[in-house]
Amino acid sequence: MITFHQVTKRYNSLTAVNNFSLSIAEKEVFGLLGPNGAGKTTLIRILTTLTRPDSGSVLLQGQDMSRELVKAKGQIGVVLQHINLDGELTVWENLELHGRLHKVPTGKRKERIAALLDFCELTERAGERAAVLSGGLKRRLMLARALLHRPSVLLLDEPTVGLDPQARRNIWDLVRKLNYQGLTVFLTTHYIEEAEALCSRVGLINRGELIALGTPGELKENIGKIAVEHLYNGKNSYHFFSNREEATPFVEQMTGKVTIRAVNLEDVFMQLTNRKVGEH
Ligand SMILES: Nc1ncnc2c1ncn2[C@@H]1O[C@H](COP(=O)(O)OP(=O)(O)OP(=O)(O)O)[C@@H](O)[C@H]1O
Ligand SMILES: [Mg+2]
Repeated sequence: MITFHQVTKRYNSLTAVNNFSLSIAEKEVFGLLGPNGAGKTTLIRILTTLTRPDSGSVLLQGQDMSRELVKAKGQIGVVLQHINLDGELTVWENLELHGRLHKVPTGKRKERIAALLDFCELTERAGERAAVLSGGLKRRLMLARALLHRPSVLLLDEPTVGLDPQARRNIWDLVRKLNYQGLTVFLTTHYIEEAEALCSRVGLINRGELIALGTPGELKENIGKIAVEHLYNGKNSYHFFSNREEATPFVEQMTGKVTIRAVNLEDVFMQLTNRKVGEH
């Protein structure tokens, strides 16, 4: 469905994406995790055709995106990292504008806008200026807008950043429903729970390179099942074990504060990079 083949993107001396290869299957929910500046947004921008790679190719349903720009744009819906609604236009007008830009015929446009407002629970806010919506509602409006031209691939760049837990879950539910209806979803996130809750497969990216790839379960199993966090003299250290029985004797001889918990994707990332997902 989506294939990155040895994609490299440089900004002067900085290599934002480095020889990146990845295939995403149709109807998959794929999550890309990585620290600030890792290259996630650059990859999303390449998929939206906003940015061109310096080398390598991107295939969308087997077709080279650089040769089929217009077609590719129609197949892709995107919710960018930063809010990019027109604040002075109403909720409805924001959707109307997008529909016109994508040449959705008038009758269909009205019908789809009404259906998407309903889907994203925004019907009651249709006449309000986008600027007055809360952060969560703005994200939902951006999602509705991304879906208006009926894309087959949905790109979500940190779709729930800054949202409260309920608003975040609300977006997750919408993403699940869309995927159930057949949409392929490619998302980036700093939230480990988000990747674990939504994604069938996860890629870890660091300094423009894909450093791990697999289901959340597979990635975690590589380091173990049980994590022991040890706080001693103000310093946290992490230790991993394949089961609780193995962890117990280790924990018993420790002083300081000890936490025993299940391994998560953050641990995998830290093991591979020595830093946390959101860290520079
Ligand atoms: N237009 C640009 N000009 C110069 N450098 C850029 C440009 N866009 C991105 N970069 C650089 O490329 C690198 C990758 O940036 P990118 O936005 O893809 O990271 P990211 O993984 O999305 O980070 P974040 O989690 O902070 O959103 C960064 O070092 C960034 O500063
Ligand atoms: Mg980004």
